[in-house]
Amino acid sequence: MAAAASNPLPRHIAITMDGNGRWAKARGLARIAGHKAGLAPVRMCIRECGSRGIGALTLFAFSSENWGRPAEEVGSLMGLFLESLEREIAELHAQNVRMRFIGERRHLPVRLQARIAAAEERTAGNSGLKLQVAVSYGGRWDIIQAAQSLARECSSGALRPDEITEERFAKALALAHVPDADLVIRTGGEQRISNFLLWNLAYAELYFTATLWPDFALADFEAALTFFGNRERRFGHTSSQLGAVQGRGS
Ligand code: FPP
Repeated sequence: MAAAASNPLPRHIAITMDGNGRWAKARGLARIAGHKAGLAPVRMCIRECGSRGIGALTLFAFSSENWGRPAEEVGSLMGLFLESLEREIAELHAQNVRMRFIGERRHLPVRLQARIAAAEERTAGNSGLKLQVAVSYGGRWDIIQAAQSLARECSSGALRPDEITEERFAKALALAHVPDADLVIRTGGEQRISNFLLWNLAYAELYFTATLWPDFALADFEAALTFFGNRERRFGHTSSQLGAVQGRGS
């Protein structure tokens, strides 16, 4: 861990937790068993981010496209989100985690919506890790909903079109309260973004690993931090200009 500890840490890590289904299939289990096994690395990442002072963690739990999965799997996943939220919220609160959900909430079961609202309210005063769980989320949806809210402000006269800057646009997105992601981790071997945080990934370092999400252990998390610590982040500038660029929000 020495390398990662001495090198810069990401301020915001975003994770696509892929490979649960294959993990279960390899063991002759139902896919939901893989999703359940995926809770252990979720806990580990939350704990590690909190203890290392990484400010924000965003987990891609269910995409806009995942609604197209078999109804049985969708129902089991919704049940798992509900149960795990009920079970873990006290511990998350004790860890000073500030929890938010991002995504199209109105599509979720009503009981889950209520639990989400209660979890957000309970942890609203916490000052530790900012944890975002993306459920029914898509990067394109996020950009569209931001554009719609700005368009509404323009049509009401509260905003002029030429006042729509990058900063103003970013404030209308679901992740307005955290810096852009510095590091994206995707498990499960695929090397694509799959409609995750499109706007917020503009300068992110991308770390792909073949490890299936339920197998993602502390050593894998540390390997991702070491990878990040060894990257030279130029934000479109040259190496020699870097001193001036380091402070830029990314
Ligand atoms: C993708 O693997 C994973 C999901 C769609 C669900 C992720 C959910 C969890 C890890 C459960 C707990 C999370 C929280 C934050 C409560 P996949 O099913 O696409 O795997 P495959 O590519 O092997 O089929």
